[in-house]
Amino acid sequence: MGEKRILTALALLCLSVPLVTPSVIPKDQVCNIYCDGRDSSSATSPRIPVRVEIFGRLIELVISDVDNMAFAKITNGNPGDEVWLDRSFDGGLSWSGDSRIGYATIPGGSRVVNTVMYNVDDPKNNFRIGALRACGKAGDRNEIVCTSWARSTVLAGSRIDAAATALMQFYNDKGLWTSAGWWNAANCLTAIIDYSRVTGSTVYTYAIDNTFVKNINSEDGNFTNMYVDDVGWWGLAWVDAFDLTRNQKYLDMAKLDSDFMYQTKDDHCGGGVWWTTIKDYKNAIPNELFIKLAASLHNRIPGDTKYLSQAIDILTWFEQSGMYNSDNLINDGLTDDCKNNGRDTWTYNQGVILGGLVQLQIATGDNVYLDKARKIADAVLRSSHLNPEGELNRALPNRPYTAYLRGLADVIYERDRNSLDQYGVHYAGPFTIPSAANQHSALEVFTAAV
Ligand SMILES: *[C@@H]1O[C@H](CO)[C@@H](O)[C@H](O)[C@H]1NC(C)=O
Repeated sequence: MGEKRILTALALLCLSVPLVTPSVIPKDQVCNIYCDGRDSSSATSPRIPVRVEIFGRLIELVISDVDNMAFAKITNGNPGDEVWLDRSFDGGLSWSGDSRIGYATIPGGSRVVNTVMYNVDDPKNNFRIGALRACGKAGDRNEIVCTSWARSTVLAGSRIDAAATALMQFYNDKGLWTSAGWWNAANCLTAIIDYSRVTGSTVYTYAIDNTFVKNINSEDGNFTNMYVDDVGWWGLAWVDAFDLTRNQKYLDMAKLDSDFMYQTKDDHCGGGVWWTTIKDYKNAIPNELFIKLAASLHNRIPGDTKYLSQAIDILTWFEQSGMYNSDNLINDGLTDDCKNNGRDTWTYNQGVILGGLVQLQIATGDNVYLDKARKIADAVLRSSHLNPEGELNRALPNRPYTAYLRGLADVIYERDRNSLDQYGVHYAGPFTIPSAANQHSALEVFTAAV
């Protein structure tokens, strides 16, 4: 297919998608290096990351990275043809709505017009991270077409920075991530903390305390709710926050969360914590999270014996609970009569326990935990549709999974990414829809591969 036919196909694809009514963002002027409204002839370093064609007109988004601004441009058009920008501060989920920013029409006697330039980011206003797209239409037709979303290379110059910045585009004024649920927000925060630790970047560390302060009374308070696994994800996020900041209040919160989880332990099926406080399902994920959280706490609390013995108690039960299958992979949970229920071997069911076993090896110095972890990780590598996490790799001599993790990072970068450095749900692609949960998962791959 020639380039023109590809562009036409893209235009038709855009047209076939109904334009959902976006939430309207006030069209207040944004000022960063410059204020919105700068003339496009002042662009210092114009480049065109995305374009689209409609009825022979070419509509392009022109980004000037040095200015952190962009404009839209229509060429090969007729007088009266229209062009404008949409600007989004939530990764393209909503945008400037009916206020077609920079709206311009081709003047008489011309075939071309540019909008003025608008800022990509709004760092002075809750550190809003933006994206833009160029839209337009022929003057005598109704159909509107828009390019894909794109942004400047500011805070996005490498693939790991771009992935982190794309995740922070979803960060909202509640201190959570738009499109991600409550527990996924804990994972988003963990991914940002891991990114900050691995790269040394402090750009997004403000989010740690912002999320803590704004959500300490959310759900049932102290990052608890009826889902015991949710509490575990948050507890681990606060351990991570403590590691990066050394602020004791995060470790204290992680202790509260661990204690909350352990309170749901009873003798049904011989032991283990429940999935919810309603106590109707004994399954893998809350137990794995508890093992990792309690062992992590032990490793950070001088003189602790309580958390280590709780972690070993749950692991001992877990290993003979029946949840491991004959492939050495962990199924989702147990039936009412305490048998393996054969449900999905989710990647997180294989991954979280690796981190728990690494923490137990650190706690005890006993390499048997690393052997157990390698058995699971190798089973995952043998499985055609699962992938391990990076934490075990860092704990092992010679880091045997590094090549695998780097290969995985390359695959998702090439095959599962859109023009805004957003990632989809399938690592092998193609890219589907953006979400903060997909995005933190991709970011953790890059972090693990460093
Ligand atoms: C959160 O933990 C603190 C410290 O233990 C306690 O005083 C407070 O009541 C807890 N909040 C809730 C909602 O349980």
